[in-house]
Amino acid sequence: RFTFYEVTRMTRPKITVVGAGNVGGTTAQRLAEKNLYDVVLIDIAEGVAQGKALDISQAGPVCGYSTHVVGTSDYAHTAGSSIAVITSGIPRKPGMSRDELLATNAKIVKSVVTELVSRSQNIILILVTNPLDAMVHVARTVSGLPKSRIIGMAGVLDSARMRTFIAAELQVPSTDVEAMVLGGHGDTMVPLPRYTTVKGKPVSELMSKDKLDAIVKRTRDGGAEIVGLLKTGSAFYAPSASAVAMVDAIREFNGTPA
Ligand code: NAI
Ligand code: 2OP
Repeated sequence: RFTFYEVTRMTRPKITVVGAGNVGGTTAQRLAEKNLYDVVLIDIAEGVAQGKALDISQAGPVCGYSTHVVGTSDYAHTAGSSIAVITSGIPRKPGMSRDELLATNAKIVKSVVTELVSRSQNIILILVTNPLDAMVHVARTVSGLPKSRIIGMAGVLDSARMRTFIAAELQVPSTDVEAMVLGGHGDTMVPLPRYTTVKGKPVSELMSKDKLDAIVKRTRDGGAEIVGLLKTGSAFYAPSASAVAMVDAIREFNGTPA
């Protein structure tokens, strides 16, 4: 006979979050708050993932969740993961482009993906580490997984930024705005005003072309704007929210467990 706790854990998909920094820690918190997953938070820095996992667990009785959150530096805990959100790497400093992170982060992503895939053969990888498009390619090459199992987190975040800017300009709730941003997460980003609507109305009917062009530019520079303000790191609230929206979408598509 299994205890209630063991049965709950067997029926919840295991989501591993690699990197317990700003994006990873917040992603683990948001996942825990869903009360739908088992969460493993892993970081190379001894103690950081363990400390954050304990802290997130202790918020459970206050917030009303009982998610099992493991903090670790040992990949054995990741075995049987349905999805991994990979945030490990160094973030941008003011004035740095995402591409300047390439060499360091490619090495990190290579080793992380190798560790994950050897223990979870059916895993789906959500890459967050920058430069995002290059890291997705590295993960694909190293993992040997079908391309449908490797997804970069960019479109949800970049579209959310565009939605927020449009909502502020038109003084409407951002949840009433639908926007679509395709392409790479960087200079090749393609915000699509033609596919942007406010309660179904094309945005081009609601603001001038100049205002819309300025919003498109601000969206493209959305990450750098926050780096410039924070000075010691990059955005993490909206990025973690976006990664968790992707996890939820995969769970809803696949059913539970993912
Ligand atoms: P952070 O510095 O707060 O956290 C990174 C964590 O990765 C640190 O705790 C570090 O110890 C850990 N780490 C380094 N090497 C590791 C390894 N081999 N194994 C496990 N953990 C390792 O950085 P932050 O703000 O969380 O950003 C993480 C990455 O995500 C950066 O590359 C950043 O540019 C990127 N990013 C991408 C976004 C996107 O839209 N795709 C949005 C926001 C951030
Ligand atoms: C962002 O867009 C830095 O890529 C990160 O916030």
